[in-house]
Amino acid sequence: MQAMTRRAAVAALLAAASVAGPAPRVAAEDADRGATLFRYCTQCHGEQGEGNALALAPAIAGLPAWYVERQLEHFRSGIRGRHFDDIAGMRMRPMSLTLRKEGDVAAVAAYVASLPPADPEPTLEGDPARGQQLYATCVACHGADGAGNQQMNAPPLTGSHDWYLERQIQNFRQGIRGADPADTFGALMRPMAMTLPDDQAVRDVVAYIMTLPR
Ligand code: HEC
Ligand code: HEC
Repeated sequence: MQAMTRRAAVAALLAAASVAGPAPRVAAEDADRGATLFRYCTQCHGEQGEGNALALAPAIAGLPAWYVERQLEHFRSGIRGRHFDDIAGMRMRPMSLTLRKEGDVAAVAAYVASLPPADPEPTLEGDPARGQQLYATCVACHGADGAGNQQMNAPPLTGSHDWYLERQIQNFRQGIRGADPADTFGALMRPMAMTLPDDQAVRDVVAYIMTLPR
């Protein structure tokens, strides 16, 4: 009887505390966990998620958590990074598989989202004026400012490397990304990449994206 009462009292206390108390502490624990998990990412993506061309690893700092989570899940399930020609994706996929515990993906994604976006220098030859015309097709989902739109499931395109953007658009065009039958979001993007007529058009649209403010 007494044990029951004590248990009830503890339960009541916990319930009361959960209204006001523990939420920030849980959030802080998650942030710590995200930071700890991120240590496995820095060897390729850099200390601040700023990316590293030699590792083929793009800037990921400041990408929204919903998008990072989805990509990590895609790598984990093999929707992304399993195609025979996906050399960069095949480097990333085993890393996603180290996020094994429940909540790992969400914690590291929140940490990535909290990092200030990078501002990489352009490296490719492209014509931003022609790119601006081509970018008209992209506005509906990625926004005129390239900031992305969660409602359309479209990530931001600013704050990334031009070589990475070029590779992804080419991957979509060639069916290296977005062609898996389970890839509902890639299926939205793939036909859009195919509207770009040739390699130079891809470079031009990327050159324009690089002129957009971070
Ligand atoms: C061995 C190097 C390596 C490590 C370690 C690594 N990555 Fe990656 N990551 C890559 C490469 C290479 C790509 C680019 C894949 C591509 O081009 O499709 C990538 C891509 C990504 C993307 C997709 C970005 C986008 O815009 O779609 C995310 C998100 C990501 N990594 C997160 C992480 C996280 C989080 C960790 C740590 C748990 C991590 N990576 C560890 C190499 C690595
Ligand atoms: C119908 C909506 C839609 C349109 C229009 C669209 N996209 Fe996308 N795009 C998406 C979605 C959704 C994704 C995310 C796919 C995923 O989750 O793997 C995406 C992803 C991308 C990526 C990969 C980003 C990364 O971090 O890996 C690039 C690059 C991209 N789009 C460029 C473009 C360009 C350039 C255009 C115009 C030619 C365009 N998109 C038009 C919906 C769209």
